Amino acid sequence: MFAADARRTEHDEGARRRTARRTAGVEGRRTRATTSTRATGRCVTVRTFAVSTSTTDAAGLVARVLRRVVGRHREVELTVAALAAGRHVLLEGPPGTGKSTLLRAVADESGIGFEFVEGNAELTPARLVGHFDPARVLSDGYDPDVFVDGPLVTALRDGSLLYIEEINRIPEETLNVLITVMSERELHVPRLGRIAAATGFRLVAAMNPFDAVGTARISSAVYDRVCRLSVDYQSAADEAAIVEQAAGPLDADWLAKVVEVVRRTRRHADVRIGSSVRGAIDLAAVATSLAPLRGAAVSDADVGLDAAIVALSGRLRLREGAARSAEEIVSELWRAVFAASVEISGKADAPAGAVPATR
Ligand SMILES: Nc1ncnc2c1ncn2[C@@H]1O[C@H](COP(=O)(O)OP(=O)(O)OP(=O)(O)O)[C@@H](O)[C@H]1O
Ligand SMILES: [Mg+2]
Repeated sequence: MFAADARRTEHDEGARRRTARRTAGVEGRRTRATTSTRATGRCVTVRTFAVSTSTTDAAGLVARVLRRVVGRHREVELTVAALAAGRHVLLEGPPGTGKSTLLRAVADESGIGFEFVEGNAELTPARLVGHFDPARVLSDGYDPDVFVDGPLVTALRDGSLLYIEEINRIPEETLNVLITVMSERELHVPRLGRIAAATGFRLVAAMNPFDAVGTARISSAVYDRVCRLSVDYQSAADEAAIVEQAAGPLDADWLAKVVEVVRRTRRHADVRIGSSVRGAIDLAAVATSLAPLRGAAVSDADVGLDAAIVALSGRLRLREGAARSAEEIVSELWRAVFAASVEISGKADAPAGAVPATR
């Protein structure tokens, strides 16, 4: 938990105890909902809490997160700082650049809950907020106990991080619910009432800049309510470390070339969107299990090329009118990177005593 939250929680606790005394006798989730709402309602006045004393905690948190996340020092620092300041965050970056990994690590290491929501066209307000169980409404009426909490209500009540992937893909009406919650830190649900955000609630949204769907619509509505963090591809060394973390120890030279092939897919003239580090992880994993099947080494040329075609070809989004197929592009890149290395090692293996020609 962030230190600033701890202070707010102490405040919440006092309010909660006072409210609980008033609501004694009311049981179950109703008590929790009422208490949470009233208690955090009282705390609205302390939302402008100071963040200054949390420096040591935040530094410790950054260090713990960096044990799990390769590289990304600046991004982790900025995310932790924005969340500790009680701000909502938008992570913007291509697929596979570690946005979810970073967020999960921050949530785990800070001990706050984490609600994960896949943003898509089917994410209706009812799916995000929750709904009254129709069968139970028939017998019990619109009782708060009959309400099935969706991820947004759960995050508000528990003071968790609500992480929405591909926020640009969610329907307009669902987006409007989120925009209100971001501004007001509370939600009004018909027949259920007001749910105020418990301490710790923040929204973190992710968006892919390659995705043309809905990105313009998001910009005006969301950007003004969030801190935005741009997340790009990492260095080759970081990507190699990520692959090893996921796929186990590998020959360093082979791994560096695998990562290079994957990185070249991102700047190939015929490719609109290349492979993320996920492709390199899959390539290494497939090669590692293919090699024993063929009684060959992982570094065997055919093992590597076949693993590359399987792992990468489906990930490439080709430009309109591209003359070559994804398989051909992967093969071409593989041969270029690995042939270059054969040439280099050929030079290195030149007979001792050979004297380079001089002019
Ligand atoms: N910096 C990193 N440290 C450790 N693992 C990473 C890092 N970046 C990426 N990965 C690994 O790469 C894979 C993809 O990462 P992740 O799912 O976090 O990306 P993402 O940005 O959330 O992608 P998407 O936009 O598709 O949701 C995961 O297997 C993750 O473990
Ligand atoms: Mg993700």
